[in-house]
Amino acid sequence: MQPTREQAWDTLTRYTKSESLLRHALAVEASTRWYARQAGEDEEAWGATALLHDFDYEIHPTLDKHPQDGAPILREEGYPEEVIEAVLSHAEHLEMPRDTLLKKSLFACDELSGFVHACGLVRPTGLDGLEPKSVKKKLKQPSFAAGVHRDEVYAGAEGLGLELDDHIRNVVTALQPIAPQLGLRTAETAEAAS
Ligand SMILES: [Fe+2]
Ligand SMILES: [Fe+2]
Repeated sequence: MQPTREQAWDTLTRYTKSESLLRHALAVEASTRWYARQAGEDEEAWGATALLHDFDYEIHPTLDKHPQDGAPILREEGYPEEVIEAVLSHAEHLEMPRDTLLKKSLFACDELSGFVHACGLVRPTGLDGLEPKSVKKKLKQPSFAAGVHRDEVYAGAEGLGLELDDHIRNVVTALQPIAPQLGLRTAETAEAAS
């Protein structure tokens, strides 16, 4: 079965009601899709995988269950093993090898999408004009978006063989088109409000 966005969204929204988790899924989807497009890979399948990576977090909020106990549910719903394995591989505690570009991209986009999103939320123009330099500065402030694991941000870029600056720029670019869905202001809305 070829996973579609529609199917992944349906699965996700049956198990996830929290707006912030849905926004996280959308952000990781947009970034992972960006990398799929860049590599000429299957955007729909990569996007579906990203949408699903935390689909069970609301019902399995602890690491003894997330994401491993979500896997049988995904299997039941007919998702291919490739998708399920990639979903599982985003979790550091499962120590699975990230041996495909999809796995590397999902892992790299997971924490950084959340962090870039957080950076955008505290700026009047959201992601517009957000430079890697200021994202990196915030990464060095432990109290800012404290839930984001900095070591995973750095390891993600390294896994993709990218400079952190480039990875940040890519994620910012990927998230800009969905800024309104992420609850972010833009240069345009800032202008309209002034
Ligand atoms: Fe997760
Ligand atoms: Fe996540």
